[in-house]
Amino acid sequence: MQFKVMFVCLGNICRSPLAKALFEKHVNDSGLQDLFLIDSAGTSGNHAGENADLRTLRNAKENGLFFDHTAKKFTPEHLKDFDMIVVMDRSNERNVKSLSNDPADHKKVHLMRKWDHEGYAEDVPDPWYGGHEGFEEVFQILSRSTAKLMQELASD
Ligand code: 4NP
Repeated sequence: MQFKVMFVCLGNICRSPLAKALFEKHVNDSGLQDLFLIDSAGTSGNHAGENADLRTLRNAKENGLFFDHTAKKFTPEHLKDFDMIVVMDRSNERNVKSLSNDPADHKKVHLMRKWDHEGYAEDVPDPWYGGHEGFEEVFQILSRSTAKLMQELASD
């Protein structure tokens, strides 16, 4: 049985595809790839079908991470099907939870920065309107948060 983890942001072109790629890297580096099914989606379908944002891809490449991506919209079926939904910010959290009235579904939803032990904010900031520093900050937040998440899940 695979543990199914879904990373969610708004557009599914900046934060959540990067979170997926970083989490995947930690899982693969630990040789645990058979234990996990990992995916990402956006609460808005506005960028469905697109690759990740070029600025996200460029920044990831500068950090030695290469990945490909096709954006898609998060659906109520994802909420039923996945074991854990990791959202980037509180707005994503509200949007995801609004798709179901079932408390069991709501319990699956967690803020990404719950696993950021160096940060003091609840949200992974949306880098869309910012400059290069914003993308680097998001990379660093997601790199350490996904590493902690992976350690926690691997020890279960
Ligand atoms: P993401 O970033 O939610 O991290 O993928 C955004 C992508 C697109 C937009 C906003 C945020 N947008 O307004 O189109």
